[in-house]
Amino acid sequence: GVSREQISRVKRDTLIHAALLMLAALLLTGALAWRLSRQLAGQLRHVGQVVGRLASHDLTARAQLPPAGEVGALGAGVNAMACALQAHRGELEQRIREATAHLAAKKDMAERAHHARSRFFAAASHDLRQPLHALSLFVAALKARNQQTEAQTLIENIEASTAALELLFNALLDISRLDAGTIEVHPVHFPLQKMLCDLEQQFGAVAAEKRLRLRFRPCDITLYSDPLLIERILVNLIANAIRYTDDGGVLVACRRRGHMVRLSVIDTGRGIPPDQQENVFHEFVQLHNPARDRSKGLGLGLAIVSRLARLLGHRVDLRSRPDHGSMFSLDVPCGDASLIRSPAPASTPGQIPTDALVLLVDDESAILRGMAELFDNWNIDLVTARSAGEAVQWLDSLGRVPDVIVSDFRLPDDTDGIEVITR
Ligand SMILES: Nc1ncnc2c1ncn2[C@@H]1O[C@H](COP(=O)(O)OP(=O)(O)OP(=O)(O)O)[C@@H](O)[C@H]1O
Ligand SMILES: [Mg+2]
Repeated sequence: GVSREQISRVKRDTLIHAALLMLAALLLTGALAWRLSRQLAGQLRHVGQVVGRLASHDLTARAQLPPAGEVGALGAGVNAMACALQAHRGELEQRIREATAHLAAKKDMAERAHHARSRFFAAASHDLRQPLHALSLFVAALKARNQQTEAQTLIENIEASTAALELLFNALLDISRLDAGTIEVHPVHFPLQKMLCDLEQQFGAVAAEKRLRLRFRPCDITLYSDPLLIERILVNLIANAIRYTDDGGVLVACRRRGHMVRLSVIDTGRGIPPDQQENVFHEFVQLHNPARDRSKGLGLGLAIVSRLARLLGHRVDLRSRPDHGSMFSLDVPCGDASLIRSPAPASTPGQIPTDALVLLVDDESAILRGMAELFDNWNIDLVTARSAGEAVQWLDSLGRVPDVIVSDFRLPDDTDGIEVITR
C-alpha cells in the first residue's frame, strides 16, 4: 500500500513543478513583451522623426518600416502624405517659375515699348524743333518791324506764347532724351565753388525781387561728376526753393561725408507734406498750382532732376515740413583737386562788323527765311543756301569770302556743317 506520507510527497513535488513551470512561462512572456515594446517604441520614434523632417520642409524624408502591422500601416500613410506634399510643392514651384517668366517677358515688352516711344520722340524732336525755332525768328523779325504800331501788343502775346511753347517743348525733350538713354555722362574732377558763384549770379536778382535772402555757403571742395548735369539739377532745385518760398531765405550748402559730398538746397518756404514727397518727383505734379497756370511752371523740374540723378548714379534726398521749409540734397562723389583740368578759354561773344558777309546754310527754308528777316533788321549782308554746293555757287558768283558761317549740322546730300566750312 501507499502510505499517506508518499502521497503527500508526490503532491508537494507536483506543486513545485507546476510553480516552476509557471515561473518559467512568466519570465518568457515578460521578456517577449519587453522586446516587442522596445521594437514598437523604436518604430514609433522613427515615424516621429520622419514627420519632424517633413514639418521642417524636407519633403524627401520617408519612413523605412516593414509593411506589416499597425505601425507599418502608419509608416505607409506618412510616406503617402510626403509623396503628395512633394508633388504639390513641385507643381507650385513650376507654376511660380512660369508666372515669373511671364511677368519678366511682359516687363521687358513694356520697357521696350517705352524706350521705343522715347527714342521716337527724341528723333522727331529735331524736325519739330525747326519750325518752332523758325516761328520764334519770324516773331522777332515781326516785332522789330512793328515797333510803336497797334500790332505791338499782339506780337508780344505771340512772342510769349512761342516762348512758353519752346520751354515746354525743351523740357519734354529733355525727359524723352533722358528716357531714351541718349544723354551721355562725362564725369570730370571740378571745383564746386566756381559753379556756386555762377548760380549766385544767375539767381541773385530773382531772389532779391522776392525779398528773399539767398546765401551760398562757400566751400573749397572738388567733385567728381558731370558738371553740366549737376548744374542742371541745382538750377532746378534753387529755382523751386525761390519759387515756393514767400519769406525767409534759401541756403545752398555743401558738406563732406566720407568719400561723398552732400549738396543741399534749403529753404524756409511752404514745404511739402509727407504723403506728397515721393509724388513731386513725378511728371506734371504741382502742389501749388491747382489752376495749372503755365506761367507758374510745368511740373517737370523735379522729374528731370530725378532722371538726371539716376543717370549720374547720385542719390537725391528730400526732407520737408509744411509751412517750415524743405531741404533737397544730392550726394556727389568727392574729386581729386590735382586732377582738375582747366577748361578751354571761352570765346568772348564779339560784335559782327556791319560790312561783314554772313553765310547761312540750312536745309529748312522756314529757318532761312526767318534768319534772313532777322539779319535784314540788323542791316547785315546775308547769303543763304540750302546745301554746301549751293553755298559755294553763290560765293563764287559774288567773288567774296564770308566772314561768318552759320550752318545747320545735318544737311541734305549726306553733307554736314563741318564740310560746308572746310569747302
Ligand atoms: N522747395 C520746394 N518747396 C515747396 N514745394 C516744392 C518745392 N519744390 C517743389 N515743390 C512742389 O513740387 C512741385 C513739382 O516741382 P517741379 O519742379 O517738378 O515743378 P514746377 O516747379 O511746378 O514746374 P517746373 O519746374 O517744370 O517749372 C511744385 O509744383 C511744388 O508744388
Ligand atoms: Mg520746378
